[in-house]
Amino acid sequence: MKFTDSPVIELPVAGTTLSLHQNNLSMHVGTSVWPCSLVLVKFIDRWIHTPPNTTNPYTHLLNFQSKRAIELGCGCGVAGMGLYLLGLTDIILTDIPPVMPALKKNLKSNKPVLKKNLKYSILYWNNKDQINAVNPPFDFVVAADVVYIEESVPEFVNAMEVLVAEDGVVLLGYQIRSPEAHTVFWEMCGVVFDVEKVPHEDLHPEYAYEEADVFLLRKKKKQ
Ligand SMILES: C[S@@+](CC[C@H](N)C(=O)[O-])C[C@H]1O[C@@H](n2cnc3c(N)ncnc32)[C@H](O)[C@@H]1O
Repeated sequence: MKFTDSPVIELPVAGTTLSLHQNNLSMHVGTSVWPCSLVLVKFIDRWIHTPPNTTNPYTHLLNFQSKRAIELGCGCGVAGMGLYLLGLTDIILTDIPPVMPALKKNLKSNKPVLKKNLKYSILYWNNKDQINAVNPPFDFVVAADVVYIEESVPEFVNAMEVLVAEDGVVLLGYQIRSPEAHTVFWEMCGVVFDVEKVPHEDLHPEYAYEEADVFLLRKKKKQ
């Protein structure tokens, strides 16, 4: 697994390379690149480039054409930028104000690769006005490594529920960061979402490790 604490992480994606600047010494977790975001991007990268006539269980999922997406807790913006390069071109990256300088720096330094100014917005998971302002619903909600504080789990699950369309999908890069948050998170998710865990053998072999998972969450159908 190519995860490193060096100041710049190079992520090959969609035939090009994102250069991600991180500051592991800052007081905020969002200024570091967290590994599940790399695992999530490279899982999509692997399957979106499957040659024709190859069995691909994710063909339907990865039809990104004309789909709207939002990333929650984007930090340095790895997942959002990576998925943009993989065809999810209508995407908004969101996080809280202290993280915005790191996000803007990475969007700017990767502009030659992205060839566009990606949309970003301040969004606290418990802020109804900010959630309404991004104009849900979205076909895809993206999040990686954001379940680590038990108290913020209910607002995160609620934000996902409000933001994702009835037939939409949450693409979640996940690793246990707090046993308490983990327990509450999956209890709450089980009420709202049908949960599909991507088998480890389907992750990108060079960007996978035992503790990291990708989950696909879909809203339970109303009876
Ligand atoms: C561990 S970092 C992961 C960052 C990024 N997703 C990655 O994988 O590199 C968690 C992110 O969630 C954001 N976050 C935490 N609580 C939040 C909240 N209540 N509302 C919005 N964002 C939040 C943090 O600011 C931080 O950027």
